Amino acid sequence: MNNIYKNGVVILDFGSQYTQLIARRVRESNVFSEILSPETKLNEIINRNPAAIILSGGPSSIYEDDAPQFDVKILDSEFPILGICYGLHVMAQYGGGHVISDGKGEYGFTDIDIQIQKGLFSGISSSKVWMSHGDRVEKLPDGWQILAYSSNGIVAAMSNLDQTRVATQFHPEVHHTEEGLKVLSNFLFNIAKCSPSWTPINFIQEQVENIQSIVGEDNVLIGVSGGVDSTVVAALVHKAIGDRAKAVIIDHGLMRKNEVSECVTALESGLGINIEAHDESEIFFSKLEGVSDPEKKRKIIGNQFIFSFERIASEMNKMDYLAQGTLYPDVIESGISKGKSAHVIKSHHNVGGLPENMKFKLIEPLRDLFKDEVREVGRELGIPDKLVDRHPFPGPGLGVRVIGEITRERINILQEADKIYIDVLHEDGIYNEIWQAFCVLITVKTVGVMGDQRTYENLLGLRAVTSTDGMTADWFRMPSETLSKISNRIVNSVRGINRVVYDITSKPPGTIEWE
Ligand code: XMP
Repeated sequence: MNNIYKNGVVILDFGSQYTQLIARRVRESNVFSEILSPETKLNEIINRNPAAIILSGGPSSIYEDDAPQFDVKILDSEFPILGICYGLHVMAQYGGGHVISDGKGEYGFTDIDIQIQKGLFSGISSSKVWMSHGDRVEKLPDGWQILAYSSNGIVAAMSNLDQTRVATQFHPEVHHTEEGLKVLSNFLFNIAKCSPSWTPINFIQEQVENIQSIVGEDNVLIGVSGGVDSTVVAALVHKAIGDRAKAVIIDHGLMRKNEVSECVTALESGLGINIEAHDESEIFFSKLEGVSDPEKKRKIIGNQFIFSFERIASEMNKMDYLAQGTLYPDVIESGISKGKSAHVIKSHHNVGGLPENMKFKLIEPLRDLFKDEVREVGRELGIPDKLVDRHPFPGPGLGVRVIGEITRERINILQEADKIYIDVLHEDGIYNEIWQAFCVLITVKTVGVMGDQRTYENLLGLRAVTSTDGMTADWFRMPSETLSKISNRIVNSVRGINRVVYDITSKPPGTIEWE
């Protein structure tokens, strides 16, 4: 492992809904962090060379039979450790203290009374924190001290004497904890002596060297999609190996309107990258004929995508590597992270959907990044804001936005509606407030009236969500005038749609895409 990854933080995930937030907050302090399974052995952690360990919160009580297992040797290791919520319970109970479950939990805002203003609480003046716990510490391990009490008299933070072991009952990672970021940075820099080397410039330098050393004199094919991730990959690989980087855009027929030509222009004229567009839509549509099941559609699109690539690559000058824009949340959500055996919710095109006998060697330079980090890297690489700020677009494209069978005609309808929707969001100046906005063609017909004619056409769903990483999301409170403009324009100008509805489901329980 190389420099920017060194002196980072390993986060053991005990199942908290906030674990990714911990990772992001640590990275906002310019320290690398990675999420691992709570069962990771101490030796494995030592091999990764971190500066510190964070034990996350979790939904369990340490007394439950199925409470997560972990390697207790970690608690006696040389690493500084911060325990958060459940992590605090683990440190208390296994350190010789005592945790009780007596129903005196705390949920939401709480004030704390700081007892020791050094180390973890150095320079902290706000007492407002966010709690979410049922169990609490009744007795500290021998030789430990209380750093803060909550206004309910509960241990809010504790540590050993030299503060190489610290733990908070509250969640410093959530923004409701007013000085949570400062608490975390006190741990990272005062206690764990982490180095703040996780920056876009360092990342680029590191990846350029990495790509050069992996690839040697070989050529790299980059599958670009018009989205920010693959554009950043193309720019990174191009920076590393110049014209031996060849970008290919496969037009599977499921792109947004004009996306292929816009992408070619941006990469070729804007960034000087070699790019070829290949129209493969015929074969995708024929393979998708008659298929309605979402998972089957995803697999077909994902597999055909690679088959097309392999064929195109074999027709080009020797291509050994394929570079893809897989991100950290994709890795986690596809359940293949070493971090946790997350449930597979959808097989993501660029991770789980790959056929096993793939002929390429794969490089995934963004595999460790969250989306906002990709955007920062993109800006640093000189990619224009318009492209960098573009909403995410899924690998299977509009294929997961036509409910039921995919046909060219349905995709055309969706493309027209989608273009109107996105144009209006730009016109009304709200595009950048939204994480992702798109239309879904619902193959249910409803009755309408236009002129004096009865219509019987498709229903269109509008989706717009706010999010920070796509893992959770809230529906965007769209101004009603904007909604009305979008609906009027679509119904009046897109043949095949006579009714528009707005999706007001958050994630969870919904997912962002409908399929
Ligand atoms: P869901 O629908 O799972 O989406 O809440 C979360 C984010 O992931 C995107 N998404 C995908 N991206 N390949 C991708 O590259 C895929 O197969 C895929 N499926 C969903 C989705 O657009 C959202 O940003």
